[in-house]
Amino acid sequence: MNFSNEIKIAPSILAADFANFGAECVAIEAQGCDWVHIDVMDGHFVPNITFGPETCVALRPHIKGIMDVHLMISPVDKYIESFASSGADIITAHVEADPHIHRTLQAIRASGAKAGVALNPATGIEEIEFLLDMVDLICVMTVNPGFGGQKFIKSQINKIVKISKMIGDRPIHIQVDGGVTVETAPLVSAAGADVLVAGSAVFKGGSVDNPNIYGSNIRALRNAAELALVK
Ligand code: DX5
Ligand code: ZN
Repeated sequence: MNFSNEIKIAPSILAADFANFGAECVAIEAQGCDWVHIDVMDGHFVPNITFGPETCVALRPHIKGIMDVHLMISPVDKYIESFASSGADIITAHVEADPHIHRTLQAIRASGAKAGVALNPATGIEEIEFLLDMVDLICVMTVNPGFGGQKFIKSQINKIVKISKMIGDRPIHIQVDGGVTVETAPLVSAAGADVLVAGSAVFKGGSVDNPNIYGSNIRALRNAAELALVK
């Protein structure tokens, strides 16, 4: 997985048809997405429950590109190995999930996956100041984690700008997760984000039988994000 800071669109399958994940992954990749974002929720760290490592195992053969696994679970450390062996390319853990995020990130890298750290909207950037040599991705949550379809929290734009300055020229992705639409995509790309997670904005209006809509949604997000960079 080579580093590039070009805009990447990562549909969250949280907004896909839960009875048809394999075909949904094939459809979004065929329609031009860059990464596939998988939201793992435990009903404890967040108020919702989705799926676990076995689902990732089942999905892996249906995803040709990057499988980006976002763990909204606590505790997290004891599950890292099973998500890594499911074939996750990137595993992201929340800084708020356990007392020892440094150890968690060490474990993710030791598993062979790229390591991501996620920050809830209320979490400050000082939490990651001493972790920059241990992460491949910083996920800025622009909604409170747990559900798709929530409203984008604008105060997080300034956080993205600050993180972008803090990482300088290090090869670290800045991912934005929650409420990304054609309206908010330009704001986050101009602030320095390169990976845009989008659930509702990719899957709305489409289906595996009508996947072209996914393609036009993905292109609209990418165009909106890229346009903000050429201004
Ligand atoms: C929220 C999840 C997000 C969510 C994004 O807890 O981490 O990935 O699915 O969904 P939208 O794009 O609908 O806000
Ligand atoms: Zn997510």
